[in-house]
Amino acid sequence: MTGTIRIREMRPEDSDFAAKLLVTCFRKTFEWAVGEKNLNGVINIEKRSMQNAPSCYYKHSLIATISDQLVGVCVLKMKSDSNPNEGSFCYTYSNVGCRGCCGLWCMGVCSSYFMHENLFEKSSSCYLDVIFVHPEFQLRGIGSRLLCEAEVKAAESGCNKIYLWVEADNYQAIHLYKRQGYSVIRDVDGVCFTYCGLGSRYYCKMEKYL
Ligand SMILES: CC(C)(COP(=O)(O)OP(=O)(O)OC[C@H]1O[C@@H](n2cnc3c(N)ncnc32)[C@H](O)[C@@H]1OP(=O)(O)O)[C@@H](O)C(=O)NCCC(=O)NCCS
Repeated sequence: MTGTIRIREMRPEDSDFAAKLLVTCFRKTFEWAVGEKNLNGVINIEKRSMQNAPSCYYKHSLIATISDQLVGVCVLKMKSDSNPNEGSFCYTYSNVGCRGCCGLWCMGVCSSYFMHENLFEKSSSCYLDVIFVHPEFQLRGIGSRLLCEAEVKAAESGCNKIYLWVEADNYQAIHLYKRQGYSVIRDVDGVCFTYCGLGSRYYCKMEKYL
């Protein structure tokens, strides 16, 4: 499909597709956490969590479209954002079972460890929570466009720095970030902590001053 790439703020009605795309793009991690048979359950959980997200989530989340098809998502988090509603345990259990609940909980703890390590040490910092592009539309500059718009949004919100965590062997993402001016400021071996929770040991912290 060809067409102009457009970037806009996310809306609640994007949740269904965004949740499916999230699980498609991070399939390896979700599969590690909950097992293959529970992936549809994770989509339901993510969709519901997006639909119930506070308005700041939509204000700070960007969608890329081509000919009205949703092809990419980028989510920023800022100090002023209120916390998303916690999903109900019963709903999570009914979708992914006991093993899936434990997997998602471990995943959440590991992600929080990174995110909260020194998150928002200054109110001027902005955290790039996640960026993903539909596999069929990767390598066409959509990731770059999302990142550029995210930087504009962060700057407009008074932030002077964006930082993020990325798996050390995610060469495509690291290439994109470096090309966009981000530098690696820390390499971390999460040993069994991140390996058990996320299926990966090595991560980089990257940042860019805006
Ligand atoms: C990371 C991601 C968002 C990039 O989106 P994208 O639309 O493909 O990005 P772009 O097309 O703007 O840029 C991709 C760049 O990576 C380069 N690249 C592709 N494969 C690469 C590899 N194996 N090693 C190094 N660079 C690579 C491309 O050449 C391109 O750079 P260039 O324009 O300088 O040639 C996308 O790959 C993705 O969704 N991945 C899965 C989710 C993910 O890992 N997200 C990041 C988590 S931190």
